[in-house]
Amino acid sequence: MAEATTGTDGGAESDDKPIKERKNRLYPVVSDELAAVMKSDWADTELRGLSPLPQSSYAAARRATLSARFPGERIVVPAGNLRTRSNDTEYPFRASTEYAYLTGDQTQDAVLVLEPQRGGGHAATAYLLPRSNRENGEFWLDGQGELWVGRRHSLTEAEQLLGLPCKDVRKAADALREATGPVRVVRGHDAGIEAALTDKVTAERDTELTEFLSEMRLVKDEFEIAELQKACDSTARGFEDVVKALDKAEATSERYIEGTFFLRARVEGNDVGYGSICAAGPHATTLHWVRNDGPVRSGELLLLDAGVETHHLYTADVTRTLPISGTFSPLQRKIYDAVHESQQAGIDAVKPGAAYRDFHEASQRVLAEKLVEWGLLEGPVERVLELALQRRWTLHGTGHMLGMDVHDCAHARTETYVDCTLEPGMVLTVEPGLYFQTDDLSVPEEYRGIGVRIEDDILVTDDGNRNLSQGLPRGAAEVEAWMAALRG
Ligand code: GLY
Ligand code: MN
Ligand code: MN
Repeated sequence: MAEATTGTDGGAESDDKPIKERKNRLYPVVSDELAAVMKSDWADTELRGLSPLPQSSYAAARRATLSARFPGERIVVPAGNLRTRSNDTEYPFRASTEYAYLTGDQTQDAVLVLEPQRGGGHAATAYLLPRSNRENGEFWLDGQGELWVGRRHSLTEAEQLLGLPCKDVRKAADALREATGPVRVVRGHDAGIEAALTDKVTAERDTELTEFLSEMRLVKDEFEIAELQKACDSTARGFEDVVKALDKAEATSERYIEGTFFLRARVEGNDVGYGSICAAGPHATTLHWVRNDGPVRSGELLLLDAGVETHHLYTADVTRTLPISGTFSPLQRKIYDAVHESQQAGIDAVKPGAAYRDFHEASQRVLAEKLVEWGLLEGPVERVLELALQRRWTLHGTGHMLGMDVHDCAHARTETYVDCTLEPGMVLTVEPGLYFQTDDLSVPEEYRGIGVRIEDDILVTDDGNRNLSQGLPRGAAEVEAWMAALRG
């Protein structure tokens, strides 16, 4: 990797820096002649007649909903900035969910502003990084110049894509500082924008904005449902890739599984939607095992919890627990069947009009019954459930909302999320599990080190539900047959 002239000095401010101040250790001075040469003889590459992004009309409808909730107030939604990994290298950028949801855009440093209008409603403007300046050398001398990081859309191009007026984001902070009237900002993404608004906003009012934006996303529109289906379909192909690569994983480690799934995610989507959990053997009992550096052994189980994130940032969240040899042992099968039965009871409880808590309770009941039946818990089942004693081995809630974030709508209030009634368009995971830790002296030795979770992504429909991840088998016999067919 080469060293840029200035390192990261924040793309949103670099336009103001004079050419002489853009220093490089190897070339401490830019000669006037070189500066003149670098400025000239570049073709006009402006793109004309661009079609709007596929979600632009949905984004407009979402902005209208937001506008109606906060009449007369200025709403500020930043995309976020690059985060330094070390020195002048950064982590891959992912736009804030709120900004991407309201614009369809995913560029760094951007800010959406909804300006209240005299006659009511709001006028939306996307403040974006424009094309790099050639006059002051920014395009080739700045670490975020286009010659280093790639061409950006011009503001005119962005207007066509987003269906919104677009302005230079380098003017956003000053414009916001000077603005009068009530303002709310989505916090946590752009410290510079927040600093410009510091004496105009309150934490309480900003929290209301964040809550509302989370709650708006509880019910998905048809664009979002199609994206989640794509994410699940790509994820199913990624799981198939992993099954086909199990021999290589056995010869290496869980890392091979992580890399195999990531290849599918990156080729078909944008990324993985969260760190893949590639947990072989006893690692399956660690809920978020993302170190993925352990051995993969025949005779043990592989718990793979992974999801492809699409180009428009919707993620799947799917778990399958697979016998690495291709066949479950009798005890593995007994535990697997119990989790499968519990998951089916949970999925059956997902329908419009049901309480959000119903699927959790239905799943937990089955697991409590099994644990009593196996002699691991003393009955009656009602007492176990009342005291939640099954949690020693079920550990986590049975699911969560899913969308652009894996744990979607996380800022929604309790009354609109866990206490809600399910509505068509909601998408949630159903993911019960049983986990017997290696050092759990309360269970027979043969249970120790076994972890099973099965997780699917369920859309609430008008008359029940649809399993978006049904492309992957769930029943033990179907899983074995599917693995055998893939491995040949
Ligand atoms: N992958 C995290 C979860 O299942 O919630
Ligand atoms: Mn999940
Ligand atoms: Mn998961």
